[in-house]
Amino acid sequence: MYRFIDYYHNEVHLSFEDHPFCDAPKHVWVVCRYLDKWLLTEHSDRGYEFPGGKVEENETALEAAIREVKEETGGTIETIDYIGQYKVKGKEKTIVKNIYFATIRELVKQDHYLETLGPVLLEEIPRQVQKNRQYSFIMKDEVLQKSLEEIKRRFSI
Ligand code: GTP
Repeated sequence: MYRFIDYYHNEVHLSFEDHPFCDAPKHVWVVCRYLDKWLLTEHSDRGYEFPGGKVEENETALEAAIREVKEETGGTIETIDYIGQYKVKGKEKTIVKNIYFATIRELVKQDHYLETLGPVLLEEIPRQVQKNRQYSFIMKDEVLQKSLEEIKRRFSI
């Protein structure tokens, strides 16, 4: 279990155990890989981030993860695995997010990408994104580096 403070000074707990904070979390985040590159989306306000969002009613977290990847990048899923979970203690409420790792079969061009500008493919994620305005705040705490380490270890990337 890791504990740290995020970009907005909220307390975050992160763990790679099996659903340590909540069995049915309401948020998902999906680290995506396509053709040996990282697949992100460009959020219109926040900037570059791995796709994700809220779990809708009558939907599982896994279904939400698959849907969000498609909506925000056009990516169809080849494989998807649960990696871990994090909990953010926000000013108003606490949220719990599942982290997944997905490999993408195909990028299908969409007419629109909801609140994002669509897919972004990167060879490398820069190590220092904290001061980079191109990147979203959700990429600016230890969840990103720790998740990438876990994925590289488990999937030999
Ligand atoms: P709305 O219904 O749109 O108001 O959203 P919400 O309040 O249900 O959840 P929201 O996504 O706005 O997140 C609530 C809090 O969690 C805010 O303080 C966000 O800054 C924080 N938060 C959400 N996602 C992440 C994340 O991936 N990482 C970090 N560090 N904080 C997050």
